[in-house]
Amino acid sequence: MSDDKTKQSGGVATADPPNENTVRVTFMPANKTFEFEHGKLPYADHGKPESLLDVALNNDFFLDHACGGNCACTTCHVVVHKGEELLSEMDDDEADKLDMAAGLTLHSRLGCQAVITKPGELVVEIPEWNRNYVSEGHAPKE
Ligand code: FES
Repeated sequence: MSDDKTKQSGGVATADPPNENTVRVTFMPANKTFEFEHGKLPYADHGKPESLLDVALNNDFFLDHACGGNCACTTCHVVVHKGEELLSEMDDDEADKLDMAAGLTLHSRLGCQAVITKPGELVVEIPEWNRNYVSEGHAPKE
């Protein structure tokens, strides 16, 4: 039995976005999904507006950002599993910084620099190094 409105992607079950201007971002492995209307996300003060970091901060989801979203560290490193084509092109500064990231992959981005430029669905993973960082009690105070 299958529901026509439900898709499976990388182990994540998702329904179709409610309208054509919706952005849906799922952070793995927490499997937390956030939706908003493209171009209407309030700026959360760190990273580029409507970046993956901005999405996380808007939803009180922890994505480390030690440099405050200024492309000066690698703690906001994410691996994009779905929706890479919806993100801004990587510039030289981001590429240079990512070269120093632990667990670098061909689909790595800096969450503070990767801006969502089109509506659609994204699935991104926070690499294990960053997850360990959180689990060891280094998450910021609320
Ligand atoms: S928060 Fe430092 S590079 Fe993104």
